[in-house]
Order: sequence, then structure tokens, then C-alpha cells
Amino acid sequence: MTSPNSTLPGLAGHPHFHYQNGILHAEGVALDALASQLGTPLYVYSRAALAQAWRTYSDAIGTRPVLVCYGMKANSNLAVLKEFARLGAGFDIVSGGELKRVLAAGGNPAKVVFSGVGKQAWEMRAALEAGVKCFNVESQAELQCLSDVAQSMGQRARVSLRVNPDVDAQTHPYISTGLKENKFGIAIESALDAYRTAAALPGLEIVGVDCHIGSQLTDISPYFDALEKLLDLIEQLDAAGIAIQHLDLGGGLGIRYTDEIPPSPKALLDQVFERLQARGMAHLHLVLEPGRSLVGNAGVLLTTVQYLKHAQARNFAIVDAAMNDLLRPALYDAYHGVQPVAPRDGAAIEYDIVGPVCESADWLARQRKLALQAGDVLALESAGAYAMVMASNYNTRARAAEVMVDGSRHYIVRQRETLDDLLRGESTLP
Ligand code: LLP
Repeated sequence: MTSPNSTLPGLAGHPHFHYQNGILHAEGVALDALASQLGTPLYVYSRAALAQAWRTYSDAIGTRPVLVCYGMKANSNLAVLKEFARLGAGFDIVSGGELKRVLAAGGNPAKVVFSGVGKQAWEMRAALEAGVKCFNVESQAELQCLSDVAQSMGQRARVSLRVNPDVDAQTHPYISTGLKENKFGIAIESALDAYRTAAALPGLEIVGVDCHIGSQLTDISPYFDALEKLLDLIEQLDAAGIAIQHLDLGGGLGIRYTDEIPPSPKALLDQVFERLQARGMAHLHLVLEPGRSLVGNAGVLLTTVQYLKHAQARNFAIVDAAMNDLLRPALYDAYHGVQPVAPRDGAAIEYDIVGPVCESADWLARQRKLALQAGDVLALESAGAYAMVMASNYNTRARAAEVMVDGSRHYIVRQRETLDDLLRGESTLP
């Protein structure tokens, strides 16, 4: 959406970031002023963009029985969680730490599903104490451990088995999870056996079937390949006397980083419910675990150009953000759009946008045509998901601050780390 004042188009896929009087804004907040007030690198999220992304799910669901459990690993800032909790979301967690965040943000534990291949006993205990909706269990060994923990607490843990349907999600290999060679889930051929094991364990109550086939999916057909296999399994379970209440299809819907046209939640849900009807399984409740599609395009990372360096083979814009702030380019060769916050006139030339970290992999964007000067502030697009959460302190760099914009106001939702924070907890030998 661009405002009537726009002199430049809005950012690709970012509904609430737009140019007004030549300056990039998040909703009603000018980002040049925000950068000079709070410093950079700075993550900026738009509350309205979060709400709009949420609506793409809630409108698509209508009155159908679907629980959206936000895949909070994408962005676990308390302000983001609180926003989704307020909108009625549940949460997909993968650690005791994430559970602590959900509870701190006022999330409803009865809407929490606990995923992950390596849950530890203390994490299971904490989740049982909190009363989570379901554990998505990924191995026979984990079934046994969970049953023991639940029994020791005089409880029965509600479980789904995460089934690996062996489908190709056609996404980056590091974020594809539903293939045989991935560490995730229980192979579909062994699933019936694993369910029988689960049914025989005294500390467990079977409630669902779960899968998650990968992330940044730009085509929905892999979901339906998985769905058919899962529905076959549910039929077999039914015949074996094991009743399934819900089907969890995981997360994975992609977002637009550049020119992708990702499928909508509505397209996915309409077809899923059509299949459920067709196969006489309309009684099943559905769980979804979207992460990226709820937050990815609700945030940008602001960074300031420190130096321009015109080397023989390339022009470099050396900025104050680095791979420790935004790891996706280094790790996945990922593309993030780059926009000047205050575009200037002048000849655009091709730059590699790189950080100060001592690694050749420390790049944020490559071969972008920009007119730049030192001191310019750039916005890295699509930085709402898997960005700040993957930040580190490599090179003893303090992690960035995070801000949430709401209309014409902004709120610091995470203070910039200080160098003292970085040294805290360390000591030398006497
Ligand atoms: N459920 C499970 C069990 C997951 O493992 C994930 C993501 C999600 C849900 C949420 O998926 P989403 O809707 O966000 O695609 N760091 C990578 C992405 C890793 C995804 C890990 N699992 C990246 O930056 O692209």
C-alpha cells in the first residue's frame, strides 16, 4: 500500500512501509529520524503489518475449526508475541525458553503446541505444568521419555507424532524438512508402529497427526502431496482403533522477498478442507504453525553506510550491520531487498552491501544499483522473520535494538545491547 504522498513505490510485499515526501516511513514514522534518534543497526516492526498478516489467516479461516499457532522461532520478541496473543493466536514452541516467552507475553498455554526433535525432560515438565495443548513427538525414544515424565507427574501428555511424509518442498535444502534424509519426524512407513507404541504407553494420550515439510514454500502442491499421505495414515489409525482429533500441517507458507508470488492462506485452507470433505474427514480440526508469513514482511533492518570502497572488481558499501545481525544472506545465500531511507539523486552504481565482520561471508546484499554516500541509512527488507532471532555476538558486537511502530508512535521493544552486557558472566582465572 502506498500513501497518496508517495514519491516512490512501497516496498515489495511490505504493506506498511512506504515513501512519503521522499523518506521511507513505517506507518506514520519517518525512518531517517528514527535512525538518528536510536542509532543503527535497528530493527523496526510495524504493528499494523502484523495485524494485517494475521488477518490473512483469520479471514481465510472464517468459522472453520483451525487453530493458528504462530511459529515463534521466526520472531520471538515479547511485543510481537503479545500482539499475536491479543489477536487470538496460539504458539508453536521448540524450547523451554520459548515457553517462558509465551507465558511472559500472556499467551494461552492451552493453545501451545511443542515441536522439536530434542526436547529435554525439564522442558517436557515445564510444558506439562503449563498445560500445553499438545507435544509434537519426533521419535520412539522421545515417546518413551515423555510418557515417563508425564507419569512421574501423575499426568498424561497429549501427543501428535510428527510424520515425515517424504515430499520435496522445493525450497532451500537447509529449510526443507520433509524428506527421508532430514532429521525431522518419523518416517511415514513407520508411523503406524510408532502410534501403536504411543497408544500402549501409560503417560500418553494420542490426539493428533503432525507434519512440517519446509519453509518459504512458494508452491502449495507439496502440502497436498503430504496431506494425502497423512489422510491415508489417519484412516489406518482409525481402523486400528486410534482416533485422531486434529491434523497439524506445520508452517511454511513463503513470503515475497523479491518477485515471489507465494500462495495465500486462503488458497491453502480452501483446498485442504475440500480434500477433508472429499475423504469424509471433515470432523478433523486443523492446526497451522506459520512463522515467516506472519512476520517476515512486517519488519526492516536499518543500517548506516560507514564507508564506500571502490575496489578493482567491486564497489563495496560497508555498513554498520553485519552477518551477526542478519545471518540469512551468509547462511542461505538469501536475498533481502535494500532501499535507501532517503533516496538521493545521482548516478546509481552497483554495490555489494557488506558488514564489518572479519569473514568473506559477511555480506548482506550483492550487486544492488544504488546512489550512495557515507552516512546514508539503508533499509534491508523482509527482516521481520529469522533475522533478529538469529543474531549473535560474533566479533563482540552488541545486538541491535528493536522498535515497534504503531501509527505515528514508536516503542523500543528491546534495548540495544551494551558492551557491558557482552562481558557479563565471563571471568578470568585467579
Ligand atoms: N513449525 C515447525 C515445526 C518448524 O520447524 C518451523 C520452521 C515452522 C513451523 C515455521 O515455519 P515458517 O512458517 O516460518 O516457514 N531460518 C530459516 C527458516 C527455518 C525454519 C525452521 N522451521 C530462514 O531464515 O529461512
